[in-house]
Amino acid sequence: MEVKTSLLDNMIGVGDMVLLEPLSEDSFLGNLKKRFDHSEIYTYIGSVVISMNPYRSLPIYTPEKVEEYRNRNFYELSPHIYALADEAYRSLRDQDKDQCILITGESGAGKTEASKLVMSYVAAVCGKGHEVNKVKEQLLQSNPVLEAFGNAKTVRNDNSSRFGKYMDIEFDFKGDPLGGVISNYLLEKSRVVKQPRGERNFHVFYQLLSGASDDTLRKLKLDRDFSKYNYLSLDSAAVSGLDDAANFRTVRNAMQIVGFMEDEVQSVLELVAAVLKLGNIEFKPESRCNGTDESRVKDKNDLKEMCELLGIEQSVLERAFSYRTVEAKMEKVSTTLNVAQAYYARDALAKNLYSRLFSWLVTRINESIQAQTKARHKVMGVLDIYGFEIFEDNSFEQFIINYCNEKLQQIFIELTLREEQEEYVREGIEWTNIEYFNNAIICDLIENNQNGILAMLDEECLRPGTVTDETFLDKLNTICADHQHFESRLNKNSKFLNDHSLPHNCFRIQHYAGKVLYRVEGFVDKNNDLLYRDLSQAMYKANHSLIKQLFPEGNPAKVNLKRPLTAGFQFRASVGTLMRNLQTKNPNYIRCIKPNDKKASHIFTDSLVRHQVRYLGLMENVRVRRAGYAFRQPYEPCLERYKMLCKRTWPHWKGPAREGVEVLMADLQIPTEEISYGRSKIFIRNPRTLFFLEEKRKQCLQDLATLIQKIYRGWKCRTHFLLMKKSQIVVAAWYRRYAQQKKYRNIKSATTMVQSYTRGWQARKLLRELKHQKRCEEAVTTIAAFWHGTQARRELRQLKEEARNKHAVSVIWAGWQGTKVRREYRKFFRANAGKKIYDFTIQRIIQKYFLGLKSSMPSMSPIDRKWPARPYGFLDGVHTELRKIFHHWRCKKYRDQFTEEKKAVYEEKLEASEIFKDKKALYPNSVSQPFKGDYLEISKNPKYQKLNSAVDEKVLLADVVNKINRANGKGTPRIFLLTKKNFVLADQKTGQVKASIPLPDVTSVSVSTQKDGFFALKLKEGSASAVKGDFLLSSEHLIEIITKLHRIGATAADREKLKVDISDEFLVQFKQDKVCVKFIQSSPKNGNSISCKRKNNRLLEVSVPTSP
Ligand SMILES: Nc1ncnc2c1ncn2[C@@H]1O[C@H](COP(=O)(O)OP(=O)(O)OP(=O)(O)O)[C@@H](O)[C@H]1O
Ligand SMILES: [Mg+2]
Repeated sequence: MEVKTSLLDNMIGVGDMVLLEPLSEDSFLGNLKKRFDHSEIYTYIGSVVISMNPYRSLPIYTPEKVEEYRNRNFYELSPHIYALADEAYRSLRDQDKDQCILITGESGAGKTEASKLVMSYVAAVCGKGHEVNKVKEQLLQSNPVLEAFGNAKTVRNDNSSRFGKYMDIEFDFKGDPLGGVISNYLLEKSRVVKQPRGERNFHVFYQLLSGASDDTLRKLKLDRDFSKYNYLSLDSAAVSGLDDAANFRTVRNAMQIVGFMEDEVQSVLELVAAVLKLGNIEFKPESRCNGTDESRVKDKNDLKEMCELLGIEQSVLERAFSYRTVEAKMEKVSTTLNVAQAYYARDALAKNLYSRLFSWLVTRINESIQAQTKARHKVMGVLDIYGFEIFEDNSFEQFIINYCNEKLQQIFIELTLREEQEEYVREGIEWTNIEYFNNAIICDLIENNQNGILAMLDEECLRPGTVTDETFLDKLNTICADHQHFESRLNKNSKFLNDHSLPHNCFRIQHYAGKVLYRVEGFVDKNNDLLYRDLSQAMYKANHSLIKQLFPEGNPAKVNLKRPLTAGFQFRASVGTLMRNLQTKNPNYIRCIKPNDKKASHIFTDSLVRHQVRYLGLMENVRVRRAGYAFRQPYEPCLERYKMLCKRTWPHWKGPAREGVEVLMADLQIPTEEISYGRSKIFIRNPRTLFFLEEKRKQCLQDLATLIQKIYRGWKCRTHFLLMKKSQIVVAAWYRRYAQQKKYRNIKSATTMVQSYTRGWQARKLLRELKHQKRCEEAVTTIAAFWHGTQARRELRQLKEEARNKHAVSVIWAGWQGTKVRREYRKFFRANAGKKIYDFTIQRIIQKYFLGLKSSMPSMSPIDRKWPARPYGFLDGVHTELRKIFHHWRCKKYRDQFTEEKKAVYEEKLEASEIFKDKKALYPNSVSQPFKGDYLEISKNPKYQKLNSAVDEKVLLADVVNKINRANGKGTPRIFLLTKKNFVLADQKTGQVKASIPLPDVTSVSVSTQKDGFFALKLKEGSASAVKGDFLLSSEHLIEIITKLHRIGATAADREKLKVDISDEFLVQFKQDKVCVKFIQSSPKNGNSISCKRKNNRLLEVSVPTSP
């Protein structure tokens, strides 16, 4: 079995104390010293790391070292805190086990440094990325902030943690940090107001005064000079190697990274400044009339500044330092404070202010670093708690701190010594018991609920009556008298009566790490942790958000009369919770050892180290380790983890797990002395065997990984191939189908083409044949027809010939017969038949004529001139007569349709025709014009109303005529009205009657033969109307006017018929003159209008243009 390990090679001393030979306390120390001298500060006891404080920086924490230890087996390289951190981280990440790293050792042994190294290592090896880095940075940067506020220089350690800190770092399944939760345990707040000689207050006060800018200090009303502040011890204000100013900047920067807002930082600094100011408030007694002293603030300047900083009303705080109000049920009693009480109140306020600020800081940091996801996470807890300490003057704080260390030692013993040995017995492993000191008895002395020191302190604090530290010590002396780890001078046990190293006001406890003398002074007060209500109420009233938050009990609305929990009770409870929490996780131990008391490098104080080795139980640890087994595991997970190393157990073991493990180990040829089989677990003695198994497993896992990879790849390729094949078949099928379809379509179209050609060819051939056949048939038919025709015609000819011959014969025969008959008949026929035949023929012709006439009768229109021609000349007379009769008949028919008015019109027209037809050239034009009569519609026209009233009779004609001036022949338009009795001439515009002539006075009318409209109305000579002479008028409706005048004359019984003269020359009587009106024809060249001129006394010439 070959294991590559440097633990044994080139090692200074022995790297693992388990391998130390011979094992004795001296050799143990010798080995530690040897290694320490060679700067090998880490040594193993199995998986426990012993860390010696080198008090100097060693080049073993470089990034290269981190890489070196990364993913390496625990024992593979020389011992290092990184190896432990790596182991814890990997088993958290790979085996899903929550881890805790317990760092123990006395004050100054290097616990805080170790915890930071673990955190920085984990931060370096876990995942990377923007978010992850931010989380890491915030987790790491929480340290400087908490150290500034929670660490201080003590005589033992320049950077001593004055609070307990447990930090859970949370990881996701990949091992990337998600966030963290910090729990803090009891800050040593008494340090705020008083520091032992050679020690300092918390770092932050010094850092603030040295590092803050002048401006900041001015705002905080602070002075850079430490000596100005009562709370700052001056003798050790400057610590060599500690740069407070630089550290202040680091802290400010860290606060920013962690996520503090600027105003939050400012509030925090204001509180720190306020604490300093508070320390400077001093009191003086002032006598009251009842003889008691009352405290008064001496110099109010600091009080004023502090109140300004925190926004507190000065008078309220001032009063709270002079009076105290005690509330009991319904009562409120106010008592005055004397100077000592005032100082007590001031310090209590300062301590509370500071410790509450510290707790707030932890809560605030937790808010920033808490994991953002609710997903399941794995946890690595790092515990860095104040180390065991023995001072010259030990008080309540040391008692608490040491109690906590007792508990941690207890858990170490429980898990590494007792538990382990018990397990061997339980599992039936052969085992010789190893003696060790179990500090459970000391824990019991302190924490027992009935008679433990803390319980009694609580009892004393709650008890009515006078309670002092002395009464408390008395109680201890009575109750714990018999306890072997409790020593007191006044103990019933007389053993210590003469022990002068044990003062009366002290008690001593034999802790696992040594005897510690505790002075009881202040135990009761510190446990009560009382802050006068007036003070908390004054704080609550502050106009400062942070202060208000820190003192919620000061809210008058929430007055709680219950006593607050004591400090001891709270601490015991939180330590209990912590222990239970640690027990659920896989522990990893770092045991820190302090090589000397001088904080110096290279000094190895033998006695000091020996003491620590003893009380830490390291020798027992080695012994148990050597006698026992390095590793144990239940069979099932063991088989599960290593089954791949043996063919018989891989991949599945059918039988019980234990047998499987046995088969496995036998197969791997692990020596039997190396292994023991317990009832439910396998025990492996040497870590090397485990490494061997792990190494093998690692190789095998690689092979398996390769195998899985191979199978997976094979499967993947095969699946891919099958898929491709399937796809290829589908593609090929589709393609073939497509190709076949295409080919088929080609062949089909080719076939169709060939077929069509063939069919075409066949059809054409057939057609040709048929045509040929048809032609042949036709030819035959034609020939046959022709032949038949020829035959027929020949036959016909013959028949015709024969028929002709027969006909000729019969004609000749008939002719001969006729001739014969006629010759016979002639004699008879000549005597009778001639007349009858004539009559009959005539009758027939006439009948035919009438019937022909009937069918060719002309239309019924009287003007239709058509008449059929006569067939025979002898019908001439009849034909003409018939035409006349027909015309008359149809005229009658035509007339019969007429109404009375129409009849009158036609009568008028007929009369006009009788008067003018063929006599006056104007007449033909008038035939088609209807005789309208009233052209002016005078009865309807309002203009002629007057005129209308002048005429009594019905107006037969109303028209505008030109009256020819008798003197010059010029025409003037006049209205011409004709009634049955007279005619009237009136002015055209006014309708004024110019002349009204009774018709009997009109003797004749003269007109020309031409186309003009002139007419002369000749009046009876001697009548009244004839004074001015005859009227020569011209009208477009001459024919109508004359016809109407003529008709009136014809119908009137009392008068003669009006005479109408038609001549181109006639005489008219103008007054006394007889004037000849002569109508001459003028050529069209002289204009188309008719002109009328009085030539002289005797002649009036009217020239009428000849019509073209
Ligand atoms: N590994 C280390 N390398 C160099 N110096 C170290 C190492 N460990 C501790 N120191 C020095 O020892 C000092 C004290 O260490 P640390 O503060 O870790 O002690 P501690 O055990 O936390 O004490 P306390 O219980 O008082 O808090 C550190 O300030 C540092 O100077
Ligand atoms: Mg520390």
